[in-house]
Amino acid sequence: MRVYCAADYYHASRVAANIISAQVIMKPDCVLGLATGSTPIGTYEQLIRWYEKGDLDFSQVHSINLDEYRGLSPENDQSYRYFMNKHLFDSINIDKKNTFVPDGLEPDKEKACRDYEDIIHAHGGVDLQILGLGHNGHIGFNEPGSAFEKETHCVTLSENTRQANARFFASIDEVPTEAYTMGIKSIMQAKKIVVIVSGESKNEIVKRAFTGPITPEVPASVLQLHNDVTLVGDEAALAGFPR
Ligand code: F6R
Repeated sequence: MRVYCAADYYHASRVAANIISAQVIMKPDCVLGLATGSTPIGTYEQLIRWYEKGDLDFSQVHSINLDEYRGLSPENDQSYRYFMNKHLFDSINIDKKNTFVPDGLEPDKEKACRDYEDIIHAHGGVDLQILGLGHNGHIGFNEPGSAFEKETHCVTLSENTRQANARFFASIDEVPTEAYTMGIKSIMQAKKIVVIVSGESKNEIVKRAFTGPITPEVPASVLQLHNDVTLVGDEAALAGFPR
């Protein structure tokens, strides 16, 4: 595993954006696996800046997002599709037809998951997967205890996760109870993985995930078994982490 420790969030975001840029330049028709959450926002801002400067071209890029709330439409401002449009897709020259997020409105759970796996495979898999890291070690919506062999599936959100995300909704009742997520198996099939972490609150879980035992209790610990993982973080998140 490679580790890049930057002074702060801004510089960590630049490192992550540089890795994504390199991927897009080396393989213009690559498949990017993308994440939502607060951590990658700075990375996406950098990519937009470099696109605006003329340094990056996303016209042939395809993207596949990790997860989506079940029941939210793309127009709902809490949906992950809305997030991606707002924080990246609307500001670069990616063709929206080439961007994929699980279909939150598909009522048939099995179909939604099967369709998404088909999309991943039809595109030859993910070249570079971006991940954030939950405080409990979750990746995507794969919470502690998730089986490593799962592909895209529907999860019932834990009360903790719903409470944590309630700040984005008018009330806790509006927070969806289920979500579609790529499973650990789907994530592990990406050719390369970049995990971005920032802030002191992630410090403990980074150590557990990358230096502790590999266990479904810390879903991100499975990444220790992947042969091309890059961890990008700021000093606060990586303090005391072996480099
Ligand atoms: C986002 C996702 C989540 C986040 C994680 C960290 O698509 O799947 O696993 O990456 O919850 O979120 P932040 O970056 O907000 O700390």
